[in-house]
Amino acid sequence: MLALPQIQKEINRRRTFAIISHPDAGKTTLTEKLLYHGGVIHETGEVKGKSGSKAVTSDWMELERQKGISITSSVMTFDFDGLRVNLLDTPGHKDFSEDTYRVLMAVDSAAMLIDVAKGVEERTKKLYEVCRLRKIPIFTFVNKLDREGKDPLTLIDEIEKTLNMQCYPVTWPLGIGQRFRGIYNRLTKELWIYDQRREEVEDYQIIPFIKGKDDQILYNYLDKESADQVLEELDLIESALPPFDVDEFLSGQISPVTFGSAKQNFGVDTFLKFFTKYAPGPQPRRTKDEKIEGKEIDPLDAQFTGFVFKIQANMDKRHRDRIAFIRICSGKFERGMKVQHSRLARELRLSYSSQFIAADKETIDEAYAGDIVGVGDTGNFAIGDCVSSNGRVQFEDIPKFAPELFGRLSVRDALKRQKMQEALKHLSEEGAIQLFVDPLVGLQDPIIGAVGELQFEVLLHRLQDEYNLEVKLNRLPYTVARWPRTQDGKPVTELKGGANIYRDLIDNPVVLVNQEWDLNWLKRENTEVEFHTSISRAR
Ligand code: G4P
Repeated sequence: MLALPQIQKEINRRRTFAIISHPDAGKTTLTEKLLYHGGVIHETGEVKGKSGSKAVTSDWMELERQKGISITSSVMTFDFDGLRVNLLDTPGHKDFSEDTYRVLMAVDSAAMLIDVAKGVEERTKKLYEVCRLRKIPIFTFVNKLDREGKDPLTLIDEIEKTLNMQCYPVTWPLGIGQRFRGIYNRLTKELWIYDQRREEVEDYQIIPFIKGKDDQILYNYLDKESADQVLEELDLIESALPPFDVDEFLSGQISPVTFGSAKQNFGVDTFLKFFTKYAPGPQPRRTKDEKIEGKEIDPLDAQFTGFVFKIQANMDKRHRDRIAFIRICSGKFERGMKVQHSRLARELRLSYSSQFIAADKETIDEAYAGDIVGVGDTGNFAIGDCVSSNGRVQFEDIPKFAPELFGRLSVRDALKRQKMQEALKHLSEEGAIQLFVDPLVGLQDPIIGAVGELQFEVLLHRLQDEYNLEVKLNRLPYTVARWPRTQDGKPVTELKGGANIYRDLIDNPVVLVNQEWDLNWLKRENTEVEFHTSISRAR
């Protein structure tokens, strides 16, 4: 049964996305400008909290950092062009963790941010692969055009080759760095002229421009060499590229590319307008239930459904509370509502809810498919848990992602070894870290794996704080984990070429090797085996 028209209207105006990028590409700066255009903040500098301005996000994060808990994947919500946009933060820098990947399980599209001088960097590539797994549409924003960088054709070629995805330039830069004068909007056929003399560029000149007819205009703004080059580039892309195909974009095969400078607030509104025009609303979500038609739940369905993609422990130490972040997949959420918890097979009340606007935590009373709510949790929730207002719903699992940092723990008090094993098992079930065991010794001496450094820090803190265990972490030289499978998906327990095969907690074989080079060696020795970078959490 479909939701009431008023509820459908709310659902249809949701747009939920995340920015994927390598540290320093400008994610914070772009976020800030998006919030500015969305009317959430009224002066730039609020997100980053530079000296003298409001330090919204940084204060919040610092508070969490001091408590040694994981960093919130905060959700920033703003209205633009009649849409309600939810921007989910993907923690980067030192706070990069498996949570960063899991956030991408909760969005309907992503914006890939690329530094024009650096091109496709390592972390962008990893995050892109996670988006690819879900086939979600990806917008590309090439940033820092006010600085010297790669020429746009080379960059587009690099993106296409590195990520094996086609690009569709929506805008085209007029010069770069010192010679950057604006962009050409290929869809509206307009030149947007950037005024370098101003610090924050919001008003710019917009000039209609038909290639072939108005070429001369370019020479008024660019030096001859740059204007010649832009015209040549435009000729090339106009003749080589078919028109923008929305379906190919929605299935993740083509990425529309816009250029700009987040810092100068140039090109951000073009991006936002394009985003709001083409970003998909809440998408149907696949379930494991054969009885459900097409195995999918429609976001406009009247029943409330959602799944947990992140758990944040001990927000407030005095209360030992945790917050479970739920992505709403269908229907309407109301604070205090009773839902079925599928894994526990029982009813519970979603007591406390919050949404994050910039970083001000606000209690919310209602939310709709596409939104994220944080609900109070006393230990009932695990990553991937599903809730529904009407019977049991089981969405497809959130995968586990290959860790890159490994270590072994030793506990100072030998009598507490078993307690440590239990704590580790619990924390790994919660998704805080991953455990790998040698099949011969089992949990006695597990290897712990993390995607980012912060996960280790949080782990040690929590073992001390919640379990009263003083432990030491000894790092191991592995950096690569892969789940070996046959082509038809069966676990592979033996490999040629001398691999260290461990088991994860649900008994999947996992190979751990020191470097990518070792992995390539194994691939050559075992050509019939697939080495997966993520795997279902299901037992
Ligand atoms: P991140 O969240 O992706 O890590 O990046 P962040 O926004 O913090 O930006 C990293 C650096 O890049 C910052 O400089 C920021 O000002 C700069 N930056 C971001 N966008 C642009 C742009 O469009 N053009 C130019 N020229 N620079 C940009 P910083 O020196 O680390 O800090 P700040 O003192 O400038 O704030």
